[in-house]
Amino acid sequence: MTIYHRHEAVIVGAGGAGLMAAINAVTAGADVAVISKLYPTRSHTGSAQGGIGAALANVEEDRWEWHAFDTVKGSDYLADQDAVDVLCKEAIDAVYDLEHMGLPFSRLPDGRIAQRRFGGHTRNLGEAPVHRACYSADRTGHMILQTLYKQCLARDVHFFNEYYMLDLIFTDEGACVGVVALDLADGELHVFHAKTVLLATGGWGRIYEVTSNSYTLTGDGAAIAARCGIPLEDMEFYQFHPTGLHPLGILISEAARGEGGFLVNGLGEPFMANYAPTVKDLAARDVVSRAILAEVLAGRGVDGQTFVHLDLRHLSGDVLAKKLPDITELALHYLGIDAKTHMIPVSPTAHYAMGGIPTDIEARVVRDERNTLVPGLYAAGECACVSVHGANRLGTNSLVDLIVFGRRGGRHMAQTAKNTGYLALPPHPEARARALVARWLVQGTGEAVPTLRSALQKAMTLGASVLRNADLLAGTQRTLADIRERLGRAVITDLSLRYNHALLEAIELEFLLELAEITAASAEARTESRGAHYRDDHPRRDDDTWLRHTLAWRDAEGVRLGYKPVVLGRYQPMARSY
Ligand code: FUM
Repeated sequence: MTIYHRHEAVIVGAGGAGLMAAINAVTAGADVAVISKLYPTRSHTGSAQGGIGAALANVEEDRWEWHAFDTVKGSDYLADQDAVDVLCKEAIDAVYDLEHMGLPFSRLPDGRIAQRRFGGHTRNLGEAPVHRACYSADRTGHMILQTLYKQCLARDVHFFNEYYMLDLIFTDEGACVGVVALDLADGELHVFHAKTVLLATGGWGRIYEVTSNSYTLTGDGAAIAARCGIPLEDMEFYQFHPTGLHPLGILISEAARGEGGFLVNGLGEPFMANYAPTVKDLAARDVVSRAILAEVLAGRGVDGQTFVHLDLRHLSGDVLAKKLPDITELALHYLGIDAKTHMIPVSPTAHYAMGGIPTDIEARVVRDERNTLVPGLYAAGECACVSVHGANRLGTNSLVDLIVFGRRGGRHMAQTAKNTGYLALPPHPEARARALVARWLVQGTGEAVPTLRSALQKAMTLGASVLRNADLLAGTQRTLADIRERLGRAVITDLSLRYNHALLEAIELEFLLELAEITAASAEARTESRGAHYRDDHPRRDDDTWLRHTLAWRDAEGVRLGYKPVVLGRYQPMARSY
C-alpha cells in the first residue's frame, strides 16, 4: 500500500537548516511538512559546540567584511564571494533572530551576547584573532536545535518523524514534485506530493572510520540527488577537525583553543607557531590538521603514536565549568581524563563536507555548469554547496550557513508555493523506492552489510583523508569498485518491516558508496593542493588551472566530471598563511 500526502513545502531533515526553513516558510504562509529520519531534537546540529560566527562587535571592533575576508581566505579562495557576502552580512541579523526566538546565549557582564575567538577569524584582515563566535557555553548547536524545534511546534508545521526519504519525484520536464519516504515504524511507503521540496539532510562523515558525526550522517539527500541526475559540487573537499578525542573522534571544540588552550607534541612542545606564526593554534582547520599530521609523521606524536595533546590545564576552573563544560565532561566520561590536571589526547576526525548539492543564494538547486535551476527543488545546510566554504570551512560558519540559507530557502519556498499550483505526479512515483527496499527484503546468503561498510570506511580513511596522492586515491577507487560489486550480492537477515535497522543500514551503505566514489573521483582529478584537499604529489595551489568548482555526475558508466568558474569579488586570491 502507498499512502499519499500533499503539502506545499516539504522539507527533508529536521536539523538547523530544515527547521529554520520550516519556520520561515510557515511564517510566510506556506503549508509545511518536515520529514525526518530521527526525532528532530536528535539531529546532528545538536552536536555543534563552539559557536556561531557573526560580526556583532560586542567584545571588540569587528565588521562583516572582515568576516567575509576570513571566510574567503579560509576557503583557500574557492568560495563564491557573492554567497560569502550574503553569509557574513546576514549572519548578524540571523543571530539576533535566534536571540529573539529565545536562544539562551552566554552573556557578557552587560547582558549582550558573549563572543569568543575561533580558528581563522581575525580582526582587520588577518591582524590578530577576533572575538566573533557567539556561543551558548559549548552546547551552541544543542541550544539552536531546541529553540528552533520549539518555534516549529508553536506554529503549524507538520512533522513526520522517523520517516526515511528514499527518492525524489520529478515530472518529465524535470521539476521536483515530491518525495517518497519509508515509515520506519511499519515499513509503509509514503508519497509526499509538493510544490517545493527542500533537502536539509546533513553530511556524510560516516564514509570515514573516525568521525565526529553521529551514526545517522550517511548523506542520504546528497546521494539521492546524485541518483536523480543532479551533480554534486566540490566533493573532494572534506574537512578533518583537528581535535577529535583520540581515538574515538568525538568533537573537542575549537572553542577550547579559542579560550586559550594549545596543542603540544610528544616532546611536550607547543608546535603551532611553527606552522602559523601569527595566530598559532587559531589557524584554519586544514592548516592545524596538517600540522598535527606533520608532527606525527616526524615521530613527534605522543609516545610515537598518531595523536598529540590539547593542554587546558592553565585555564581556570571557572572557564572550564562555565564555557567548556561539555568537552570537559566528554574527556572525563570517555577517557577518565580530568582536563584540569591532565592533557587531552586529540587527533584529526572527519567532520564536515564542504561540497554537496549545488545551489544559488536562495537555496535553489542548480543542475549544470550554467547554473540552470531545478524547478521546485531546494537544499540548505551541510548537504548543500552554495558555496561559502570553498576548500575549507571556518569553524562556526556551518551554523551561520544553515541559519542564513535555511531562512532564505524557507522564504523562497513560500513565495514559490504562493505563485504556483501543484504539478501532476508521474504514474507510480513510488516504484523506484519500492524496488530499492524489495532488493534487500529477500532471503539468501551472502556478505553482511557491516563488513562492507567497514571496508568502505577503511578505504576512504587510507586514501582520501588529510593526505592524498594519485596512488592512494587509485587504491581507494579500486577498493570502492570491489565493494560496489560485492554490495550487489550482500544480504540482510532481518526481513521484517517494523523498525528494520538492518534494512536502513543497507540502504544507507548504498548512499555512502555513491558519495565515497564521487569524493575519490573528484579528488583524483584535482591535481593541486587547496584547503582540505592536500596532495603530496601536487603540493601547491594552482590557480591557473584549478580556480574552479568541480561538478560530479553519477551515471551508468561511473562518475563524470565537469567544472564551473568561481565567483570572485573584492578579495583576489593571494598566498595563504596564518
Ligand atoms: O569546534 C567546534 O566547536 C566546531 C564548530 C564547527 O564545526 O563549526
